[in-house]
Amino acid sequence: MKVAFASDHAGYELKQSLMELMKQRGYEPVDFGTNSTDSCDYPDYAHPAADAVEKGECAFGIAMCGTGNGISMTLNKHQGIRAALCWEPEIAALAKQHNNANILVLPARFVSEEMAVKIVDAYLNAEYEGGRHQRRIDKIPVH
Ligand code: RB5
Repeated sequence: MKVAFASDHAGYELKQSLMELMKQRGYEPVDFGTNSTDSCDYPDYAHPAADAVEKGECAFGIAMCGTGNGISMTLNKHQGIRAALCWEPEIAALAKQHNNANILVLPARFVSEEMAVKIVDAYLNAEYEGGRHQRRIDKIPVH
């Protein structure tokens, strides 16, 4: 299963380590950049990753910037994307269970690597509950 990854410079190191984690978990990371800690602009990497998830080329995504906010704002401009900013495991589980989030976003400057692994695993191990949550999700898009 392919997983889209995107970050800016602030999230670069966490992106690299979480791509390795995902390989260990049996997934195939697809790296949309950035490719170094040189200062860059998160939309340049977020939009291609969002496109890949929207088109079904990647099953879901994991993204990060310093706070997680800029990259979340960018990803959520895409109608088919539900990007959820998660800073602890229970929020990540709920982002899947209730929001069927298809991109998990982490605030790289505000979570340890150890916490980031727990957040990713909570997201991976949770299942979307559907039902009333689908009714709410259906009302999200702006027509
Ligand atoms: C980069 O300094 C920082 O602004 C960016 O990573 C992010 O936090 C923006 O939302």
